[in-house]
Amino acid sequence: MNYDIANPDLAEGGARRIAWAGRRMQVLETIRERFREQKPLDGHVVAACLHVTAETANLMLALRDGGAEPILCASNPLSTQDDVAAALVADGIPVFAIRGEDDGTYYKHIHAALDHAPAVTMDDGADLATILHTDRRDIEVIGSTEETTTGVIRLRAMAADGTLRVPVVAVNDSDTKHLFDNHYGTGQSTLDGIIRASNVLLAGQTMVVVGYGDCGRGVAKRADGLGARVVVVEVNPVRALDAAMSGFQVMSAGEAAEIGDIFVTVTGNKHVLRQEHFDKMKDGVILANSGHFDIELDLASLRAMSTGRRVVRENLEEFDMPDGRRILLAAEGRLVNLGAAEGHPADVMDMSFSNQALAAEYLIANEGDLEPKIYTLPPEIDAQVASIKLAHLGGTLETLTDDQEKYLSGWQEGT
Ligand SMILES: NC(=O)c1ccc[n+]([C@@H]2O[C@H](COP(=O)([O-])OP(=O)(O)OC[C@H]3O[C@@H](n4cnc5c(N)ncnc54)[C@H](O)[C@@H]3O)[C@@H](O)[C@H]2O)c1
Repeated sequence: MNYDIANPDLAEGGARRIAWAGRRMQVLETIRERFREQKPLDGHVVAACLHVTAETANLMLALRDGGAEPILCASNPLSTQDDVAAALVADGIPVFAIRGEDDGTYYKHIHAALDHAPAVTMDDGADLATILHTDRRDIEVIGSTEETTTGVIRLRAMAADGTLRVPVVAVNDSDTKHLFDNHYGTGQSTLDGIIRASNVLLAGQTMVVVGYGDCGRGVAKRADGLGARVVVVEVNPVRALDAAMSGFQVMSAGEAAEIGDIFVTVTGNKHVLRQEHFDKMKDGVILANSGHFDIELDLASLRAMSTGRRVVRENLEEFDMPDGRRILLAAEGRLVNLGAAEGHPADVMDMSFSNQALAAEYLIANEGDLEPKIYTLPPEIDAQVASIKLAHLGGTLETLTDDQEKYLSGWQEGT
């Protein structure tokens, strides 16, 4: 078997971590049981470019139980859990991922996954799909799935200019993905990453959250809960208003730069904090990014401005400014929740990856019937994922009476 990982000897620890995550992924387990019986992915190679974590490993195992041949490469050079990669390889699943790999190795690994001629590709950031539309147009796939907001934005841009040549399921657009993973997952794990990198007490600190979307709302709410004074920076007036009505201060990046102690970017946009902001920041501020790519902070400018730099803790680098101030950067400006912590808890990835497994099944079941455009999974799948999760949380649903169903679907009955 072909693979490229850091150290096969780490397999035992990785297997323990995969098993622990699996215990908290009950929806995926339910799907897995059905997959074992029905084998809906039988004989299809599925190449996944996802964060190589214990939760992803459970998805790979579910795909294999469904009859697929899964191949895994990393969607971020800093998020790979080397022990998990080793455990998957020991279990016969090819993995191409090494934590901290350079850009050249990262892309070599993506090509290695595509060399397996996948029928379905799974992305978190659209890297596989982009290469399918550039260097590897020779590969024909049934379709692709996309996990995150940034990837969906890239793929919609490809659809808009007529470049997209395969059907894509935007898993991110399922309610049971983005309303939970982005909000609760990113919210908790981003703070976990900042705390692990710096061990700062958030209470009493001014935390600037740049971007108040699904992720930003989760980060802001949790920082508030830990006693931070939360400041929100937004370009969208409706979202900015929502932040203001939630009790947060709303201001421009320029104003926030002067008062913030900790800055978190979650916009999906580039250079939202740049030299003009770094110039105004206080001594000792911490910068972290939880948006998909490491372009939200203008790191080239930060490096160019600095007169010296050093690693002060694992995942925390300090930059000296010419006027004596210091600016700290967590996890090299890459996704802080994956670089400095363990990514989203398994409980929330359970829903995201259940949607991924069902999206692969959907693409294969509808082979030939789908056009090269962006699809969202049918609402029944969202309802199914939510119902199973709710049952595992001990909740029960109310049901509509016949009379209520009639009332809601009619127009005759008024006051
Ligand atoms: N860390 C993780 O594990 C994780 C998980 C899910 C998504 N993401 C990534 O996080 C990013 C945000 O995702 P989302 O679902 O919240 O997206 P979203 O589109 O819901 O929200 C982004 C917000 O940023 C705002 N924004 C854009 N440019 C801005 C600027 N210059 N200044 C201030 N605000 C600006 C937008 O108006 C929007 O409200 C994406 O890159 C996504 O891929 C990361």
